[in-house]
Amino acid sequence: MQVRQLAHSRLITVAAFTVLWLGAAAPIALCTEETKPPSAEKGYELATKFCKTCHIIDDKPGRVAPDGPPPFSAIANKAGQTAERIKGTLIQPHPPMPDMHLSSEEILNIIAYLETLRTDETIPPFLPPPGEAKPKYPSPT
Ligand code: HEC
Repeated sequence: MQVRQLAHSRLITVAAFTVLWLGAAAPIALCTEETKPPSAEKGYELATKFCKTCHIIDDKPGRVAPDGPPPFSAIANKAGQTAERIKGTLIQPHPPMPDMHLSSEEILNIIAYLETLRTDETIPPFLPPPGEAKPKYPSPT
């Protein structure tokens, strides 16, 4: 009888560990997933959520620019604009722009969206075209 009980509790222990292991393994699998390229669609969603209250985020007709914050189309076509500058503004915003505590992934998505509003060809692309991302490590010479 006692032996049986022991075997039973051991089975429960094994089951509990399996559940724990699976629970721990799932987030790890998610984290190691390859980083996705910045998505302009996600950037637009973020802009709708976080930026639209102050900025005009698209060029849809019928919108009137409120005083103050520059429209996104102006930000995207500002002379000398770069991804680094936009990133800097979002990481350390000037008042009255709030710090929205965006992750780097969110910032990249917003930059990808701003890229779609860039019509001034004299301004270089903010992000490298997909597939042409710079190698992470310099290639040996
Ligand atoms: C509460 C209002 C407010 C919100 C919300 C807001 N902004 Fe701004 N933003 C401003 C104002 C005002 C300025 C101008 C600040 C200045 O001139 O220093 C500005 C400036 C900027 C600039 C710099 C423009 C330039 O000419 O250099 C960028 C880039 C920008 N905002 C992006 C965003 C993005 C992206 C979001 C959403 C994630 C956002 N802002 C949300 C008010 C806001």
